[in-house]
Amino acid sequence: MRGAAALGFASGELKKPGGRRFKSGPGDYLLFFQNNYMLLDISEKIKEISISEFFEKNRHLLGYENPSKAFYTVVKELVDNSIDACLEARILPEIYVKVKKVDEDRIRVRVEDNGPGISPKKLPIAFGKFLVGSKFHKLKQSIGSQGIGAKGAILYSQLTTNKPAKIWSATINSKEIHYFELMIDVLKNEPLILKHEVKENKDWHGTIVELEFEGRYTSKVDEYLELIWLVNPYVKLIYEKDGEKKVYERVTNNLPQLPKEIKPHPYGIEIGILKRLILQTKSKTLIEFLTNEFSRIGKDTAKKIIRLSKIYEEIEISDKSVEEYLKEKFKENFEKIIKIAENVELNKKLNELSNEEKISLEVAIASIKNPKELKNEEIEKLFKAMQKVKIRAPPTDCLSPIDEKYLIQAIKKIFKAEAYSVVTRKPSVYRGFPFQVQAAIVYGLKEFKGDEEIQNVKILRFANHTPLLYNLYDCAITKAIMQINWNSYGISQSGNLPNEPIVIIVDFLSVWIPFKSEGKQAIAEYPEIIKEIKLALQEAARKIYRYILKKRKYELLKEKRNIFERYIPEVAKELSKVTNEKEEILLKKLKEIADKKVPELFKIEKEIKS
Ligand SMILES: Nc1ncnc2c1ncn2[C@@H]1O[C@H](COP(=O)(O)OP(=O)(O)O)[C@@H](O)[C@H]1O
Ligand SMILES: [Mg+2]
Repeated sequence: MRGAAALGFASGELKKPGGRRFKSGPGDYLLFFQNNYMLLDISEKIKEISISEFFEKNRHLLGYENPSKAFYTVVKELVDNSIDACLEARILPEIYVKVKKVDEDRIRVRVEDNGPGISPKKLPIAFGKFLVGSKFHKLKQSIGSQGIGAKGAILYSQLTTNKPAKIWSATINSKEIHYFELMIDVLKNEPLILKHEVKENKDWHGTIVELEFEGRYTSKVDEYLELIWLVNPYVKLIYEKDGEKKVYERVTNNLPQLPKEIKPHPYGIEIGILKRLILQTKSKTLIEFLTNEFSRIGKDTAKKIIRLSKIYEEIEISDKSVEEYLKEKFKENFEKIIKIAENVELNKKLNELSNEEKISLEVAIASIKNPKELKNEEIEKLFKAMQKVKIRAPPTDCLSPIDEKYLIQAIKKIFKAEAYSVVTRKPSVYRGFPFQVQAAIVYGLKEFKGDEEIQNVKILRFANHTPLLYNLYDCAITKAIMQINWNSYGISQSGNLPNEPIVIIVDFLSVWIPFKSEGKQAIAEYPEIIKEIKLALQEAARKIYRYILKKRKYELLKEKRNIFERYIPEVAKELSKVTNEKEEILLKKLKEIADKKVPELFKIEKEIKS
């Protein structure tokens, strides 16, 4: 739930974040406000609402605001899940999408995959309880994330038809196929299993989800399927619409690298997140906490952070030796401290320590503090220090762009054009989250799906290899396109957009996509993101511009030659009169002069074609 405050029920003993318990009476309410709980005594009218009930009322937030958008969203959520599951299990996906108009404004969608399946124990909650998913807590490049998608589709289906979802699933090597008919108990946010049957399985594995709902056909679904195949060309996709089949064959049998999961980078977090990580951590000391829960913090960086944060206490100076002092005050932790402090001699007296040695010891003492005992101000200081200390950029093996070679092959299958350029930028970072941009420009479009004609620019936006088909003008990708001076790359422009039959493709990859809303159709305009998209497109446009320049030169030469050739017979005739030379000889000579221009013409022609 968003917003500054949310209400929750409270009765009996309650646990405060941080571990302290306090008592409350019936009818008291717990106000969760900026990470602090407060007790409120307010009337009985206020009650908790379930997340399912919330989405039932607000289905537009999930992309179900009208029947055609609903059709699109159902297909998208199910296909996204299939691709995510197959990739994770390293299975070459074969996805069969079957849609049928069963009545006026009623559609049945069935999505079958050959993925890893889902165990019968987990299946009901994975599909019947909101906010249950395997991806939310991971920082990982994947399509789904919030644990909402499948449930949203099932909820919408039951809301508009009162019919249960039908789900078949078998895990790898399982001898059983489990069939469920389930609905969501909206008030409890729990799955309601209406039927569960076990059937014998030979060698199938995967998942089939079938839903019936109020919906209307829209070409957005056809477009979505074609485009998701375009940027995931290792997928075999079969799309059957009212009995008519279209098959998208794989361009490659190589699965892309599995993106690695990463830990949060210190530069990306907010103080609230730091507090939550402290609450959740199993680390017993501050130094372990810093090195275990974040990416790119090693022991030395952790010490630097603690030192800069000044959350250590000063040692009382006396003529005791370091060893005596530590043993007396920290008993069994004595050795840990010494190990962290490294260069402090044990038998040196405290009053003989240099300033550097003293701080080093103080930092080591603070390093073994239990992070859960940090006071609020200390957490704040720690947070500020984390933002200041120099820390390496996060690792980038968490991102998996498409091999440019396969992307071009797939693009060529859909768009016939004069020139194609693809650019894969190096990974970059926003709010500590690694991200990467791939961009392509298709120039001089000759043919597009045979029937539809493109007059001016077509913008294809993707996030983590999944197409974004709504909210075009509200997205960082479009904003970046509009900030480029296309004229300077030889592409004509009207207003802020190119005005030629070209296709612009941008795929934004990240371990966390900053979607502007739950409908997941537009990327937020962080300046770092806009900048990278622009750089990618400018690089792609430069390649296209080189082609355009060559083409212009070619056309100029060709025209010159044509004009010259046109006049040759006449010139030969007149020259013959003046010089008494035979007309045929003059004709031959003049043609030779014209042909001197040809080798250059042929060279450019060859370059343009390659
Ligand atoms: N086709 C599928 N194959 C295997 N597991 C699936 C499939 N569809 C959904 N799941 C599981 O169900 C969970 C919930 O899916 P969903 O509600 O779409 O949330 P999200 O995709 O955001 O995690 C997924 O995280 C995944 O673990
Ligand atoms: Mg999903």
